[in-house]
Amino acid sequence: MAEKFKQVEIIRGPFDPGGQPETRTGHPLELGFFAWNIKGGMTASKAVLSNPERLQNFWEWPNSMRLVQLAEEIGFDYQVPFGRWIGQGGETDYNGAALDFLASAAATAPVTKTLGLFSTAHITFRFHPLHIAKFGATIDHISNGRWGLNVVTGYSESEMRAFGFDKLIGHDEAYEMADEFVCLMKHLWSEEERFDFHGKYYQAYGAFLAPKPTRKPRPILMTAGGSGAGLDFGVRNCDWIFTLAENTEGFRSKVNLIHDKAAKYGRDVRVATMCWVLPAATNAMAKEKYDWIASQIDMGAVQNFLKSMQPTSVHDTAVKPEMLQRIALGITAPQIVGSYESCAEQLRDLNQAGIESTLLCFFDPQEGLHQMQDYIMPILRKMGLRKS
Ligand SMILES: Cc1cc2nc3c(=O)[nH]c(=O)nc-3n(C[C@H](O)[C@H](O)[C@H](O)COP(=O)(O)O)c2cc1C
Repeated sequence: MAEKFKQVEIIRGPFDPGGQPETRTGHPLELGFFAWNIKGGMTASKAVLSNPERLQNFWEWPNSMRLVQLAEEIGFDYQVPFGRWIGQGGETDYNGAALDFLASAAATAPVTKTLGLFSTAHITFRFHPLHIAKFGATIDHISNGRWGLNVVTGYSESEMRAFGFDKLIGHDEAYEMADEFVCLMKHLWSEEERFDFHGKYYQAYGAFLAPKPTRKPRPILMTAGGSGAGLDFGVRNCDWIFTLAENTEGFRSKVNLIHDKAAKYGRDVRVATMCWVLPAATNAMAKEKYDWIASQIDMGAVQNFLKSMQPTSVHDTAVKPEMLQRIALGITAPQIVGSYESCAEQLRDLNQAGIESTLLCFFDPQEGLHQMQDYIMPILRKMGLRKS
């Protein structure tokens, strides 16, 4: 006879045992360093071939370690890796190599002191929630409570197949799985006795997690679904929602929509975005560099990326021809291009539309971080967007 354990009732969100964690660092605009772990970052252009070491292979350790340390020194609040298992090919082998999402968070823990450390896990690739709850609690301990998780479902057919699944999971169903996944993880992070969990997608019998994470009531969860199902999952289960829009007005209405949806569940979420940033001393210099990068789009890589995004909401907007440059240079994120002053103003516009945090990704991360340090951060401080 199997031993009997307490059966937990809640298998779908909203579920916040002990409440939601405090996510505010005190800066009106929080900043994250993004896609530092992956070949080519978010730039699908043959321009990266002009200096592969610097523009493509910055992810290689210990170079990427130094970039992450520099981001912390400058005052960035957190780092997020891009979770990718199969690259997009093309002439640049775009995203063709990447440091793994958990090992890289663990590796950055002892070489940083204050930076929030995120991992990006694909739910449908069949990790069990106990795996991620345990790995995460471990990194939380190593980093003194700085670990958090970006929950993504995983949409790419080639990645699914690489994990051995030839029967694909439907887009919305993947968010149902994610819902159960996160609920079980929250039980594991909070239950003080062994328990059974009888979900549709996940089961656990006599499960228990020790140690618990040190951050109370639990680690921060972020997500970036843009579809109805993705947003609904996010507002019910996560603390930060990353969203994208075509312009400031679009951001403002997304921010309002997300807060309204979260309020219906009695939850408080913060809305964030990601930006592809290309600063220079003057607007003209930034434009010249942008035109050079944009003149060499790696079409093979972009086509493969678009194919991989077909099941997602990104595909709806991505097919428009004018979106091509935004897909290739920043995966549809706002492009912050211009003089240092202009870049700071564009970030302020996003903040005024209700965006409280943004991930930043650079064509040349080393140069971009130094430009942030020397020029843009001081302007953001003067604007009151960053504390001194
Ligand atoms: C800021 C941001 C970061 C993302 N990071 C990843 C990632 O690392 N790996 C991944 O497979 N998808 C990532 N995505 C894609 C989303 O998880 C999601 O699939 C996409 O936004 C489409 O939303 P939908 O699935 O609700 O249609 C990211 C999206 C955004 C906006």
